[in-house]
Amino acid sequence: MIKDPDYTAIRIGTLRGDNKIPFDVFVRVAGKMILYCRRGDSFEGERLARLKAKKLKAMYIDKGDEIPYRQYLEENIDRAYNAAAGKSLLVRCEVIQGFQQAAAEEFMENPVEKFAYDHAKSSVQRFSDFIDKEKGALAAFLSIPNSDKSITHHGVNVAALSIAMAQAEGVKDPKIISLMALGALVHDTEHYYTGFDVGGNPSAYPKAALEVYKKHPLDGAHRLQGSKFLDQLVLKIITQHEEHLDGSGFPLGLLEKDIEPMVMIVATANAYDRLVGFEGQDPKTALKSMLIDKLGAYPLKQLQALQEVLKNNQVV
Ligand SMILES: [Fe+2]
Ligand SMILES: [Fe+2]
Repeated sequence: MIKDPDYTAIRIGTLRGDNKIPFDVFVRVAGKMILYCRRGDSFEGERLARLKAKKLKAMYIDKGDEIPYRQYLEENIDRAYNAAAGKSLLVRCEVIQGFQQAAAEEFMENPVEKFAYDHAKSSVQRFSDFIDKEKGALAAFLSIPNSDKSITHHGVNVAALSIAMAQAEGVKDPKIISLMALGALVHDTEHYYTGFDVGGNPSAYPKAALEVYKKHPLDGAHRLQGSKFLDQLVLKIITQHEEHLDGSGFPLGLLEKDIEPMVMIVATANAYDRLVGFEGQDPKTALKSMLIDKLGAYPLKQLQALQEVLKNNQVV
């Protein structure tokens, strides 16, 4: 992000929900700061869709507004997690999703910084608990269209789906579930860096693009090499989330015996969310294609869990 002494860059995902912002927001156009959202604006439903449609890379606030911004951020996320605050479930999920996207972005931009990792790690614990306890949350998250084909939006969806699938499969340890969710949140770190255009079916990518695409799990893992604190499960998810059971996946063509079940949960959720979010399939068609075309690539147990959570949450 561009540095400017009078302005502070903020993460776009943090502007969410029907709470009014107590600060002005600027964008930089041709080297100049232009007022973009006014004090008193809010970002829910249609307004959020419009903000996402702009595909802005960076937004700024006046340096003097840092404290009101932090207060807004804290209040927003606390109210979103608090069912008694009287907000609709969809607005609450929009705020939580944006907050998780911002945590993922912070990690992706600072992959070897412990503070960013720890922040993302603690945020997914609350997120996992929310998916577990709040009926309808998964459906609400998945109903928010990924109109800008955002890698972090995809990461939040894959995390939410993986958590629900692990719970449906009877995984009991909340620590394992939230580590898996953390891996799911940041699994496509490399695309965030390269800005790879993830839209469309990879089988139709031109040869050069396909080569770059097939390297993203290993390149992502290399980027994190300097990190001494990364949990093994998170690293495995980044490296192996595109592998299949039968050796037809990439980058290594591993077989079932080489891949942990928790990684395969994320791999299955990832393949489904790619079909919906990046390839534009409706949830029913995507599930059908997972159950028919991808049978053999993913464990039956995982495909059944996917079907069960999508059905139980009335996504399909
Ligand atoms: Fe991927
Ligand atoms: Fe992915």
